[in-house]
Amino acid sequence: MSPLLTVNNLVKSYPGRRNLLGRSKQRTIVTNGVSFALGSGETLGIVGESGAGKSTVGRLVLRLLESDSGQVVFDGCDVLSLPRKQLLSFRRRAQMIFQDPFSSLDPHMTIRELIGEPLSIHRGLKGHDRDAAAVELLERVGLRADQLEKYPREFSGGQLQRIAIARALSTEPELIVCDEPVAALDVSIQAQVLNLLVDLQRERGLSYLFISHDLSLVRFLAHRVVVMCQGEIVETGPTEDVFTNPRHDYTRSLIDAIPDPRTRYLAPTEFESTRVLAGASVKEV
Ligand SMILES: Nc1ncnc2c1ncn2[C@@H]1O[C@H](COP(=O)(O)OP(=O)(O)O)[C@@H](O)[C@H]1O
Ligand SMILES: [Mg+2]
Repeated sequence: MSPLLTVNNLVKSYPGRRNLLGRSKQRTIVTNGVSFALGSGETLGIVGESGAGKSTVGRLVLRLLESDSGQVVFDGCDVLSLPRKQLLSFRRRAQMIFQDPFSSLDPHMTIRELIGEPLSIHRGLKGHDRDAAAVELLERVGLRADQLEKYPREFSGGQLQRIAIARALSTEPELIVCDEPVAALDVSIQAQVLNLLVDLQRERGLSYLFISHDLSLVRFLAHRVVVMCQGEIVETGPTEDVFTNPRHDYTRSLIDAIPDPRTRYLAPTEFESTRVLAGASVKEV
């Protein structure tokens, strides 16, 4: 079976920094020859330190940023050469969740508008149908219909990230790029949001490109992992292989830097306990 997403040799650079003599000729390369594949229903983790180029890769794949060269193939379709018009139908199938829900959700829009917007643009829903779909999504992520008229400032970070997930789900995507989706949340809330992502994947057969600097999260969630260092992939493989038998020194140093494996790595059973304590996988404490 061919993968849902194939990325070949993605390159992105920016003009060099200004110096006293003007702009340096040398461009800064932020992703250099990045290649990987993602199967349907699979989670591919992208790990690496801050500045490694992880978010850039996520944005290049969805064409929120234009790449210098390379190829992105989604379900047989060459994404980088899609005309603007057809980008909309690609984006119905491929969505993104960002690190900071406070800045990724427009503060002037109500929850009804935030979830309703993609429902009308991508799925043509109006009026009662749109509201019913919005409520269904809101409830699925653990919020309530009576919260539809509220604004983002009235919610906690965890609740906002649930709203961002509902908004991403509203287009019925097959792929979601999750860029550090729990990094801005309290540790106690992180497990709940991750459990929600896992449940949604099982339920809907979603594929995740899961970007994180936190290796313990990636170990819990990802089937396979790529390790990025300074814009390049230095190692890739099934998650457990990479964690138990890292081949590259850089990967080894990242694993060694996980503060205390007993507290940092939340084993799946601990996630289950957190969920039991919370009363349900989608409940906010
Ligand atoms: N608009 C830009 N102009 C110049 N450099 C940029 C720009 N955006 C990002 N970068 C650089 O690209 C590198 C990778 O950034 P990013 O993809 O955000 O890394 P990560 O998500 O792994 O922390 C960083 O060194 C960053 O400074
Ligand atoms: Mg980033």
